[in-house]
Amino acid sequence: MSIKKKIENLLMGYPPLFRLGSKIYHWMNSSFLTLSPETPEAILKAFKLVKKDKQPPYGDYYEFGLFRGFTFLKAYEHSKALELAGINFHGFDSFEGLPPAEGVDVADGRFFEGQFACSREDVEKNLSSNGMDMARVNLIKGFYEDSLTEELKSKYSFKPASVVLMDCDLYSSTAEALAWIDDYLQDKTILLFDDWYSFGDSKELGQQKAMQEFLAMHPNYSVEHLWKFCKHGSAYRLRINDK
Ligand SMILES: C[S@@+](CC[C@H](N)C(=O)[O-])C[C@H]1O[C@@H](n2cnc3c(N)ncnc32)[C@H](O)[C@@H]1O
Repeated sequence: MSIKKKIENLLMGYPPLFRLGSKIYHWMNSSFLTLSPETPEAILKAFKLVKKDKQPPYGDYYEFGLFRGFTFLKAYEHSKALELAGINFHGFDSFEGLPPAEGVDVADGRFFEGQFACSREDVEKNLSSNGMDMARVNLIKGFYEDSLTEELKSKYSFKPASVVLMDCDLYSSTAEALAWIDDYLQDKTILLFDDWYSFGDSKELGQQKAMQEFLAMHPNYSVEHLWKFCKHGSAYRLRINDK
């Protein structure tokens, strides 16, 4: 176990100390990097599958949970390298960090209000200064319970989803994101859950609970497991019968 993980586990028993430690860690590590180093590779594998499975137009990329924008930028770079034309990139974040953890999301206190905050301006700067074509970028600011509305769907031209990255940590956030994106899911959309195992391997918590409930609401949907990534991520190909 890494020293970082040992310190994290120790502090977890003292939530105020854990929150302070996490804030100091992110303040000291303010570089433009992802929290999950294997996620960019998972996005690349997902786009390769899209290229194999589908004909153009492939559909858009959706990311729920951007933090500093690193995985979002990597999605753009990978799609460009694979010459997947015509993809737009939709990113959804409060840009104020996580909402307060409530209900099942309280769990062991690893996720807390304001964690992973990064302003929209800083994210835009990170993306544009690293060469992302901002004409293809659509950032939606707000907490999902307020921002993910039916009205939003008529405000922008959202196309069917080729790849969706759910990197928003919590059960509540993932459930809200899944409910909203449902209209854009298509047969063979790739769903990347960065936090599938963040609360352990339990269908009663986190993203597993959100997805289980979502599938129960859609008897014509099923998923094929593709691969695991990082220590906590899992990738699926959605299958839809008669949408
Ligand atoms: C772990 S970070 C994302 C990391 C990023 N994908 C990366 O690796 O570069 C989680 C993000 O989800 C966002 N988030 C989680 N729940 C949210 C909600 N309900 N509404 C808006 N943003 C939310 C937080 O603001 C935070 O930026």
